[in-house]
Amino acid sequence: MKNQIPELFQQKYGKPHEASYFAPGRVNLIGEHIDYNGGLVMPCAITSGTWLYLATNNNGLIRFASANFEDYTEIPVQNQYQKTGKEWYNYPLGVINELQKEDWKCSGIDLFYYGNIPIGSGLSSSASIEVLTAFALNEFFQLGVDKLSLVKLSKRVENDFIGVNSGIMDQFAIAFGEARKAIILNCDTLKHKMVDCNLGDYSLAIINTNKHRELADSKYNERVEECQQALNALRQEININYLCDLNAEKFALHSHLITDETVLKRATHVVKENDRVHAAAKVLNDGNLEEFGRLMYASHQSLRELYEVSGKELDAIVDFCATYPNVIGARMTGAGFGGCAIALLKKGYEEDFAKHLSEDYFNKIGYHATIYVQDIGDGPRKL
Ligand code: GLA
Repeated sequence: MKNQIPELFQQKYGKPHEASYFAPGRVNLIGEHIDYNGGLVMPCAITSGTWLYLATNNNGLIRFASANFEDYTEIPVQNQYQKTGKEWYNYPLGVINELQKEDWKCSGIDLFYYGNIPIGSGLSSSASIEVLTAFALNEFFQLGVDKLSLVKLSKRVENDFIGVNSGIMDQFAIAFGEARKAIILNCDTLKHKMVDCNLGDYSLAIINTNKHRELADSKYNERVEECQQALNALRQEININYLCDLNAEKFALHSHLITDETVLKRATHVVKENDRVHAAAKVLNDGNLEEFGRLMYASHQSLRELYEVSGKELDAIVDFCATYPNVIGARMTGAGFGGCAIALLKKGYEEDFAKHLSEDYFNKIGYHATIYVQDIGDGPRKL
C-alpha cells in the first residue's frame, strides 16, 4: 500500500507531494504503567509505523487525508485549534496547534497519511502519528526544534488536546528508537541509554488480541489518578516526587499509609515493576534471556492481578505462552485492556507457535488473534 501513496496523494490533491517521512510504532519490553510514575521503562521502536506525504498549499487550509480512514477534512488556518471529536486527524491537528505555540505559523498544508500499525493495539499508533507530524513539520519548515522538545510537545498533544494523561514513554521510544536496540529510559530525569537487544536464538513475537479497547482512555486516567492517591498518602511521611522513588524494600516501610486496598495494589505493582526493569536491564546486559523471560511473566502477572489492566484475551495469550515449550517469556505490552502481548519465541518455531496459539485462542475467545514477528526498527526519518 505504501508504494501507492504518491499516486493517492496526486489523486487527492491534484499535484505531487513535496516530501515524505516515516515514524515507527513501539513495543515496551518491560516497565508497564511506570512512565507517569517516574521510573524506568524499556521500550523499543518497531519496523511498522506511519508514513506522511506532504505539500504546501496556497488555500490557507490544513487538509488531512489518510489511506486508512475514509474521513477527510479541511480546516482553515487559525491561531489555535480545538479538538473536533474522536476522528484520527485530531492527533496531527493537536501537533500543529502545539507547533504554532512555538512561534510557527502554518500557512496551508496538504497532508496524506498511511499507517500499518494496527490501531488501538497498544503499539502506539497515536504516538507514531504525533511524533511523525512533529518531526516532519519541524524538518520541512526548518523550525529548529530539538528532538526531545518534539517528544514533549507530542506528549502535550496527548494530554491536553486529546485528553489522555499518558506518560512520555511512547513518544520518546518512537523518536529515539534505533534498530536492534532497546531504550532504557528514566522517565523522571529523561536520561536514556541505548542497549543492544540481542535476543540470540529468540525473536520478538507480537500477538494482537484483536480486542477492541473500549473505555481504555477512561480506565487509563483512572489508574493515573490511583497512583496519585498512593503518592499523596505516602507523602504524609516521606518526601518523594514519584512512586518509583521507592524500591520495594523502602515501600514496605511506608505502605501502611495507603489505606485503600485498590490503591495499595496499584502502588505495589508500580514499585515492584520498576524494580523488575532494573533487574531486566542487568540480565539483558548479561545475556541471560531466560531470566529476562521470567521477569516478563512476573510483569504480566502483576498487571493482571494488582494493576488489573489485562483481560481474558491477553491472559489467554500469556497463559498459552507459559505452556508452550519454545517461548521463554511473555506479557501484555502498552496500556492493556486489550491490545497486544509480546513473547520471546525461539527462532524456527514461528509457524508452529502461530498455529497452536491461534487454535487455543479461538477456542477460548471465539475470534482470532494476529501474530507477527517484528524487528526492532529505527526512529523517524525523512524518506
Ligand atoms: C500507554 C501510554 C504510555 C504508558 C503505557 C503503559 O501506552 O501512552 O505513556 O503509560 O500506556 O505503560
